[in-house]
Amino acid sequence: MKWKTRITEMTKTEFPIIQGAFAIFGKRTFAAPVSEAGGLGIITAHNFQTARAFQKELKKMKELTQKPFGVNFSIAPPGHTRLVPEELLLDYVDIALDEGVKIITTSAYKAAEIGKKVHAKQGCFWFHKCATMKHALAAQRHGADAVTIVGLEGTGFKNPLQNTTLINMTLARKAGITVPLIAAGGIGDARGFLAALAMGADAVCFGTKLMGTTEFPARGNFKQRLVEMDSFNEDFYKKIYHGKLRDSPIASMAVGFIDRIISIKEFIDGVMIEAEKILRAWGFSGDTFTTF
Ligand SMILES: Cc1cc2nc3c(=O)[nH]c(=O)nc-3n(C[C@H](O)[C@H](O)[C@H](O)COP(=O)(O)O)c2cc1C
Repeated sequence: MKWKTRITEMTKTEFPIIQGAFAIFGKRTFAAPVSEAGGLGIITAHNFQTARAFQKELKKMKELTQKPFGVNFSIAPPGHTRLVPEELLLDYVDIALDEGVKIITTSAYKAAEIGKKVHAKQGCFWFHKCATMKHALAAQRHGADAVTIVGLEGTGFKNPLQNTTLINMTLARKAGITVPLIAAGGIGDARGFLAALAMGADAVCFGTKLMGTTEFPARGNFKQRLVEMDSFNEDFYKKIYHGKLRDSPIASMAVGFIDRIISIKEFIDGVMIEAEKILRAWGFSGDTFTTF
């Protein structure tokens, strides 16, 4: 079965699936298998200290996959010390565009200048990821071609005014979001994937669940600890829902979907096969599933 949404039209991927940005881990050996499996693999730019190393990475990524991939620029909010402010990233954006990257994703803070650069190049798109509806509306006003809203169940950048994925997706249109919408936060299986599309998303962004894969480049027994983690544990609950997670890169509620370590292809194939099965059980008989 084919999948067609406003996002796949832009990304030219087989499935409406986007890899989350990953501090430390978001490099080619983790991103290329996502692209190869039909999603949009993402290289996270702030993992590369120099423009030269970044460019080299993009060239090597293209050796690993001929399929579309994107680059993420996580922008430092004022006072943030680990990330870099937007103005220092513009050269990196030029490199990505010159290397033929068509999808530039930004996150965390204002990225309108990057957006302008992306739009100056034909056929390129700017997706912005944020944690609240207010920021999604601002990104849309500044010309973002799509917005990702990360739900409270998710990880990465937390915000005291963050809402759940259900509320973000189902109320986005009413709140005035007209550009394609990407659901992120707490999604880890076919039901979550389909539910996000039913709630109004044009694609799904997987973060935590992709850490439970053979290609996730973690050391030691980190992955085994994810398998064994109790997502209903009270301390974990408080970290996720009571604002104690801040921006530390730990797993989200989607860790509950990590039962064993599988390949990225096995995961993505599994989601798509199961999603099709569910749709067929509901009576869908077409060859192409579209959210238009
Ligand atoms: C280890 C880890 C590192 C992350 N690093 C970043 C980052 O540097 N920039 C960013 O925008 N999001 C980052 N995220 C968030 C993901 O890109 C994605 O938005 C989030 O994981 C989606 O929620 P989920 O984990 O529930 O799927 C990170 C997530 C994880 C698990």
